[in-house]
Amino acid sequence: MRLTDLYAGLEHDLNIIEQELERSVTSDHALLSEAASHLLKAGGKRIRPAIVLLAGKFGDYRLDVLKKVAVPLELIHMASLVHDDVIDDADTRRGQLTVKSKWDNRVAMYTGDYIYAKALTIIAELSDPLLHQALSRAIVQMCIGEMEQIRDFFNTAQTVRNYLLRIRRKTALLIAISCQLGAAAAGAPPALYNRLYRYGYNIGMAFQIRDDLLDVLGTERQLGKPPGSDIRQGNITLPVLLALRDPEVRDELLGEIAKIRDADGRADCSRAIGLIRASRGIEEAERLAVRYVDKAIGLLDGLPDIPARRTLAELARFVGRRNY
Ligand code: IPE
Ligand code: IPE
Ligand code: MG
Ligand code: MG
Repeated sequence: MRLTDLYAGLEHDLNIIEQELERSVTSDHALLSEAASHLLKAGGKRIRPAIVLLAGKFGDYRLDVLKKVAVPLELIHMASLVHDDVIDDADTRRGQLTVKSKWDNRVAMYTGDYIYAKALTIIAELSDPLLHQALSRAIVQMCIGEMEQIRDFFNTAQTVRNYLLRIRRKTALLIAISCQLGAAAAGAPPALYNRLYRYGYNIGMAFQIRDDLLDVLGTERQLGKPPGSDIRQGNITLPVLLALRDPEVRDELLGEIAKIRDADGRADCSRAIGLIRASRGIEEAERLAVRYVDKAIGLLDGLPDIPARRTLAELARFVGRRNY
């Protein structure tokens, strides 16, 4: 199923969210607005706001409340991307120049902060402390995840457990709270929103594993950025860790990674990518992503049988297979 099919029935409300997103980043200051709008207008899947709305269907669905959760969650995601592109020294995102590339790192630093602050302004209109605590916790964990990634650059001896912990922090928790807080803001009971949190956590893990697979398997057209970005900067992801367990490629791949590290960003990664693609790592990483997807779908069984439950199951399947 495609994303547009998944969003069928949500278009009207997602359009309103889109308008609110635009409104939230404009005004105040010309350069900050321009830089933030640049990323917003470049597109993106808007998965987090869509999840908030779907989770809201399990309670008293009121768009005027849910948008105050959906918009901040997308803004926090966007802010993290602006900063992530500085850390990853990435020139393109969503098929457009990154903020750090169109302007510079200093502009990106404050654009990210500006977008974060806008998220906080909007969520402050809701008073439930759970929303604020969960949001702050997810941002703290995201910072830790990104810092751990920097610490582990080029560390080929790191464990899979280490990788899983890192992606839990940098990606899965934000998706988990998108589910949780959508339902909580709609007044759903804790047993229900906690189950949705666990569903979100599992699709979040699959989402990042898929992202890391796409960096090895995808094309620039599909991804809106050049493939191989992870290995070029030393980010050792699941397909690489699993490829390193494959005796057919291990030694050569270690050699290629050492060359990339010593070339300081100017290395040709095509041999390394070829080795990873040819290894058992791809299939094994895909299998792990599918396990997370299945776990997520299993968790939905305990929820009321409303149409949104089926959409969430489809969304989980989309995440496990997505190629953009
Ligand atoms: C990219 O997230 C960063 C990750 C957490 C993998 P998305 O794939 O949701 O990015 P957009 O918003 O669609 O561009
Ligand atoms: C996800 O990491 C970004 C954050 C969670 C902040 P990536 O570095 O893998 O994301 P892309 O590939 O740049 O979108
Ligand atoms: Mg990145
Ligand atoms: Mg990154």
